Parts: sequence; C-alpha cells; structure tokens
Amino acid sequence: MTTHTWSGRFSEPVSDLVKRYTASVFFDQRMAAQDMRGSLAHAKMLARQGIISQDDFAAIERGMAQVAAEIEAGTFNWNLDDEDVHLNIEKRLTALIGDAGKRLHTGRSRNDQVATDIRLWLRDTIDTLDTLFIDFIRALLDVAETHAATPLPGFTHLQVAQPVTFGHHLLAYVEMLRRDRERFADCRKRVNRLPLGAAALAGTTYPIDREFVAQELGFDSVCQNSLDAVSDRDFAIEFCAAASLTMVHISRFSEELILWMSPRVGFIDLADRFCTGSSIMPQKKNPDVPELARGKSGRVFGHLMGLLTLMKGQPLAYNKDNQEDKEPLFDTADTLVDTLRIFADMAPGIRVKPEAMAAALKQGYATATDLADYLVKKGLPFRDAHEAVARAVRTAETKGCDLVDLSLAELQSFSPLVGDDVFAVLTVEGSLAARDHVGGTAPNQVKAAIARLRASL
Ligand code: ARG
Repeated sequence: MTTHTWSGRFSEPVSDLVKRYTASVFFDQRMAAQDMRGSLAHAKMLARQGIISQDDFAAIERGMAQVAAEIEAGTFNWNLDDEDVHLNIEKRLTALIGDAGKRLHTGRSRNDQVATDIRLWLRDTIDTLDTLFIDFIRALLDVAETHAATPLPGFTHLQVAQPVTFGHHLLAYVEMLRRDRERFADCRKRVNRLPLGAAALAGTTYPIDREFVAQELGFDSVCQNSLDAVSDRDFAIEFCAAASLTMVHISRFSEELILWMSPRVGFIDLADRFCTGSSIMPQKKNPDVPELARGKSGRVFGHLMGLLTLMKGQPLAYNKDNQEDKEPLFDTADTLVDTLRIFADMAPGIRVKPEAMAAALKQGYATATDLADYLVKKGLPFRDAHEAVARAVRTAETKGCDLVDLSLAELQSFSPLVGDDVFAVLTVEGSLAARDHVGGTAPNQVKAAIARLRASL
C-alpha cells in the first residue's frame, strides 16, 4: 500500500479509479515553477519569523534547486499516487533533504497554496498575453498605415454603405484589442493578491508575516479574508470573460477575412502558409486559420460557462470542485496565446486588392450620402435632399452607371441646386477626405490615429 501524505487516518487504500479520478498532477504540473516559487517565499518567511531554522531554510533552498533541475531536465518522476503538483514536489523535496522538507508545509495548506499558484501562473500568463496583444496591434497598424488611403466599401447590413479606407477599417479592430488589453490589465489587479496565510480556511496559529511573502512574490497586497482567499476563483472567471471578449473580436475579424478572401468578394488574399488546400478540389485555397479562430471562440466561451457553473453552488470555503478550475483556465489561456500569436504573424501577409475594393464601391452608390450632404449645404432640407438623391440613384441604376457618371444636366434634373462643383463630392476620394475629424475615415485622420496609437504602445 502506498502511503499518502495524508494517509494516517485511513484504514484502506483508495482504488486505482478513485486515484485517477481525484488526481490533478497530470494537468497541474504545469504550475510547478509557480509552486516552487511560492514554497521558497513561504519557507523564507518561516525562517525569518523563527518558525523554522535558517538551516532548514538553507536545506529547502538547496533541495528545491535540485527538484527544479529535475523538472527542467524532464527526469522528475511525476507520480499519480501523490495526487497533485504540490504533493509531488513536497515528497521529492523530503526525499532529498529529510525533515527540513517535512517542515515546509508549516502554517500552510494546499488550499492557500493552490490558490497562490494559480494566481502566480495567471499573472505570468496575462503578462505574456500583453506582449502578444502589442505584437498583433503593431502588425495591424503597419497594414493600416500602408492602406490609410485605400478605399474600401464600408458596409451596413452587409450592403455597400459609404466609402471608408481599409486602414480605418483595421483601426476599428485595433480599438477593440486596446479595450481587451485594458480588461486584462484590470483583471490582473485582482489576480495579483496573495492567498497564502489563509492556510486551510481560517488562518494559522503561527506568527506569520503575509506582507513579506506578498512582497517576495510580487503581489500588490494580501487577500483580506481567509475563507475568501482559499475559495475565490472569480479572478479566473474574469480572465475567461476577458478572453471570451477577445475571442469575439478575433472571431469577427476572422469572419471578415474569410468573406474578403472569398473569390466572390476578392478584396484580399492571405499568405499561403495560413491556408490549406482541399483533398478533392484542386482549385481551393481555404482560410483555415481564421476559420479555426472563429471556431475556437466556442471553446473559450464554453470554459467561461464551465467556471461560472463550477462556482455557483459552492458553500464556503475550499471544496474539491475547485480542482476543476484548472483545465478550462489553461485551455483558455493556451487558445488565446496561440490565436494572438498566429494573428500577429498572419496580419502582415494580408495582401490587399484595391481594384476589387474600388469595383465594389462603384456598384454600391457609396457616395449617395455625400450628394445629399452637398444639397443640404446648398440649402435643401435633409429629407428633400435624401429624396432627390434616391431618384438620382434610381436613374443611375437604370442606366447601369455610378452617380459620378451622370451628366451635370441629368444631376440638375433632380435638383436645380446642383452646380459643377458636384463631381468633387461624388468621387470616392472626395467622400473620404470630407470626413475629416477625430474618428473619421479621412486618410489624414487615419494617419494621425495610427501615430497616436503607436505612441500609446
Ligand atoms: N489539487 C488541489 C486543487 O487543485 C489542491 C488543493 C487540495 N486541497 C485539499 N484539501 N484536497 O484544488
């Protein structure tokens, strides 16, 4: 019979199935680095407070370095019998250094230990994500800059509405991603609080110094209630909520890439390395990466729902249910890290086809609003202008031409206010340049926005 760390009061061993069912070591071992960091900070505090000896602390430091080296080298023997990452590491440490290893857990429980590990792990992850957001935003800004003046039909209801520039369109996504970054930064504030010291649930009888441990581990503050400290996982839920919104944004962008790449639209092409062919149709080039990203948003939303449901019925304080927080959290983080990385990589390879965008603009009477605005500026009430332009559009439609192709006399038949200065507003370039304010699509505004955004990184 294997002796579990907690086995003293048990009269029979757990079955292999129960062992496998309750163990987390095969997924929580990825928090090993955080677990060791947390343990070292805890041990240092114990020695400083005279709760363990300096010799014990020195042994723990030495032993932990050996454990870390074994994990690094892949020679560490992760064992299902030792349930989770915490017990595996503690057991190996004790095998290496004896009694000092057994003193490490003084004034601590796995309950505050695991909460600390997750928070350290998530903080590292949020920091990684932030650099990936910056990479992706930078890549989008580069493409936006190249196409600050490239006209694209702007759509509402997926019908051609008004001209925008492709750069302006991309900057809409940059704004979304900036808010995503803010959300993660805000989430990080609540992640970055220290649970250690809460012990199992009620605190501990040893004269601990939680502030010292917090400082050692780079936490901003300590959790203020021991029951809450060991049982709260709302920081993880917040993370998944922020991740879900990011995936919503990436999914919307993906949908546009897919649409734009469709030969029926043909606005862009993606570099071959982000697409795949078909095993049966030789002509195909499929936008697999955006499609998968659109699809992967589903699993991230699912994890958010999973974690909300995991928490909702739990009484205080720690319950084993909480062990189920890790796989959804890890998968959410992995999915987001990979997705941001691949999009940062893919964005520079977006090949824009300005001719296709221009042709689509021509088909959609995209400057009709400009003609109405022109008439309003000449004194016509907007509703009358709207009506006059609607008639002009109908005529152009019958003739199979664009508004700008109608003659001056034809245009004047819809309103005598039309003068020969009308053609400047009917061109796409005129339409774009006229929207010259912060947030507008005029190319000079797009360039200014890009400069501001670059400076803000
Ligand atoms: N592996 C556990 C988890 O992930 C660690 C805490 C276990 N605590 C306990 N009393 N069983 O939540």
